[in-house]
Amino acid sequence: MKKLIIFLKKFISRILIFINKPNFSSESYYSYSKDVKKIADNIDNLLSQKIKIFKGNYMNFLDSNLSYNLRENYINIISKIINTNTEKLNDFQIDSEYQKILNNIKDEGYASSVNLNIDSVKVKNIHNHLSSLQKYPGHIISNSNRPTKHNLKNSKFITYHPKDLLKSNDICEILFDKKLISIASSYFSCLPTCVTLNCYWQNALNQQDYNPQYFHRDNHDLKLLTYFIFLTDTNTLDGGHEYIKYSNNLENFNNRLDIEIKDKINAILKKKFNISNSSEDNLLYLFFQLDKNGYGHEDIYDELKKYKIELFGESGSGFLTDNYGVHRAVAPLIKPRLIFWVSFGLFNNQNSKRLPERLEIKSSNNDNNNKNFSVLKYVYRNYIKFS
Ligand SMILES: [Fe+2]
Repeated sequence: MKKLIIFLKKFISRILIFINKPNFSSESYYSYSKDVKKIADNIDNLLSQKIKIFKGNYMNFLDSNLSYNLRENYINIISKIINTNTEKLNDFQIDSEYQKILNNIKDEGYASSVNLNIDSVKVKNIHNHLSSLQKYPGHIISNSNRPTKHNLKNSKFITYHPKDLLKSNDICEILFDKKLISIASSYFSCLPTCVTLNCYWQNALNQQDYNPQYFHRDNHDLKLLTYFIFLTDTNTLDGGHEYIKYSNNLENFNNRLDIEIKDKINAILKKKFNISNSSEDNLLYLFFQLDKNGYGHEDIYDELKKYKIELFGESGSGFLTDNYGVHRAVAPLIKPRLIFWVSFGLFNNQNSKRLPERLEIKSSNNDNNNKNFSVLKYVYRNYIKFS
């Protein structure tokens, strides 16, 4: 009897896994147009020759606890390789307002500005567009579950297929904005690649078990820049985003922190890394190579309260962060929050088992002679199939 119960339990759990298996439309691999393929292949070859990164995928060594210095070295090598192959397309020119935004990201790791906001008409249009789309239970499409009625009702998060998001002209306008691409290019010192495109609802329920609500670093590329836009009103401690200033860059972190705070953090790091005998006084570099993407080190984050920035605002408010810097999502308490974001990385971080299908856009002859269009073809190649 006992054996039968065990067997039945296993059987039912297998059926549930099958029922919940993601079924969003996907592609087995991403093929690119001739010109983009040539660039991507050249970069792939140089990455494998110079730093033994094969098929452009550096996800494997991101898991191997890179030291801060090694990480910086790789970023420099990779961005130089990319820039050599994309420099004809690059445009690092930005106006003084956007230069301020860029400087803020470089100095403090984040930037919020009215120039990053979208107007209420756009917000309304995006809401209208979303209302007609298939919803998926999950935080992001690649780890969403099957959109059954039961799953959708019980999921804390509801997301959308990027292909469907891209059918909105308002979303495309945001993504294709030359200023946005120029800021990202300047930050990476090369043409970036869009590595995430997402929009999700988060319910105002008890969600303390959701990891991104604890401070952490994003590690799905060696360098990241993310543009967030709130699509519902958020307030302090209600659906916003928290960021620890200077935590994206060791030099700034070292130069800008108060000495007393640095001393406290050094003492914690000494204990954590068990290096009581070290003659080294400054161990702050270890703060940049904490395990598990920085999750679970609240003792250090508590000491950094003074540098914690709260990002929130009315729907339409936008901000940029280097999300390698320590951050967390603030759970909504009163009503669900809707947030849109696009992340740029260096080159390629596809580690999903199921690659979401891209939106197909046919280009005209005029487009093919247009430099801006060539830039978009490269940057969004894993989200849009330009043909
Ligand atoms: Fe994150």
